[in-house]
Amino acid sequence: MSALLPLKNKKIILGITGSIAAYKACVLCRLLIKNGADVQVVMTPSACKLVGRDTLAALSGHPVPCDIFEDAGKIGHIAISKDADIAVVAPATAQTIAKLAHGFADNMLTAGLLAATCPIAIAPAMNVNMFRNQATQENLRILSRRGYYVMRPASGSLACGDTGEGRMPEPEDIMGFILSILNGSHAQRIGFEGRGALPSPKSPAELGQTRLLPRASGAGLKVIVTAGPTAEAIDPVRFITNRSSGRMGYAIAQAARERGASVVLISGPTALEAPEGVTRINVRSALDMLQAVEDNLAGCSVFIGCAAVSDYRCETIADQKISGREKGQTMTLKLVKNPDIAATVGKLEHGRPFTVGFAAETINGEEHAKAKLEEKNLDMIAMNYVNSTTQGFGSGSNELFVYDRDGLAAHLPLQSKQALAGELCDMIFTKAADGEKA
Ligand code: PMT
Repeated sequence: MSALLPLKNKKIILGITGSIAAYKACVLCRLLIKNGADVQVVMTPSACKLVGRDTLAALSGHPVPCDIFEDAGKIGHIAISKDADIAVVAPATAQTIAKLAHGFADNMLTAGLLAATCPIAIAPAMNVNMFRNQATQENLRILSRRGYYVMRPASGSLACGDTGEGRMPEPEDIMGFILSILNGSHAQRIGFEGRGALPSPKSPAELGQTRLLPRASGAGLKVIVTAGPTAEAIDPVRFITNRSSGRMGYAIAQAARERGASVVLISGPTALEAPEGVTRINVRSALDMLQAVEDNLAGCSVFIGCAAVSDYRCETIADQKISGREKGQTMTLKLVKNPDIAATVGKLEHGRPFTVGFAAETINGEEHAKAKLEEKNLDMIAMNYVNSTTQGFGSGSNELFVYDRDGLAAHLPLQSKQALAGELCDMIFTKAADGEKA
């Protein structure tokens, strides 16, 4: 398992610019510190109008520079990035992105980053049309060519009322992205090519070459992915569930789609938006999920069971809300076993797809994963430890140990769930194609 504080001894510059998403930077700052980082916040003058400098100073434990002249003599812009392991601008507005692309140094953040020699990550946040505008796209391309690590903004409803790409990625996802860069794993980019000029642990292009396998094609494949938790009703208002956010499964659905597959995402209740081009079917219980999987199995080439399916459901669901007044100090719920969805697919006699499961473990991961592979008749299983805040349930990053019938097929180190999903899909599609040829 990875160290409990994956950012221990890392100095991170957190640049905050004037987007309404600036409030989320407070959460990001706390998350980075909680995971061991020493965070130096730098804000633009616009950001200071949206969130308090004092708040960020209190959270980070350091004064927060903003204006070059105001702060002259206290913290020099050259000194800011000295000894930093990485700088991340989150949120990054179109304005700051444009300034960075063209070498402006008109505030503490832009000046500090111009002098920086560490890797720099950018988490854009803006209106969808501003993001799509050719000027912004060209500026992002310039930055990417120079070695900046550009995150894809999230899609959904934006503060301005529009819907589309432009939301700042969630703090957990940004932390996963940072870990990917620091660990030298594959970093998700918007799709721009080119080598970075900045010294970095590995430039984006080099990171591309450290991939386990070349990017595999999913063209012509129908892929079913299950994701998120299930919710097993107790009465009309109560249910049994777990802490799965759906992030890992949604990232897999997106990676499979980006590789050309046609993707059906069968999802328990989550707060996530469906990735573009993916067909999502919403379900609540394990029985609903099984039904949706069976309804979509025709023509399916790959099944990936990433959902945290409840092993048990209530034997009976109360028609009316169970009243606390009528119950004593204890109450017993009788639970019955749910069908195993992954095993149902793995044991199909006809039209069986290449079947991949997940194993969520807290101890003896290898032994448990191998047993699940065997019992459910899977082709592959991705085991993750789920007893740390940086991996497993709810986090933006994860670490996977992938087993197949021959044993350990790959160890995919701690990195963003998006990057991991890409690696995993490459392995699965390559294996599935090998199986077809054999
Ligand atoms: O959603 P996130 O917050 O991103 O978190 C991701 C995750 C931790 C949920 C994910 O990476 C993960 O580990 N998913 C599997 C969780 C789980 O239920 O593991 P398990 O070891 O209990 O089950 C083993 C396999 O059997 C899984 O593929 C599961 O989908 C499947 N299963 C289990 C029970 C059941 N009744 N039907 C099933 O299909």
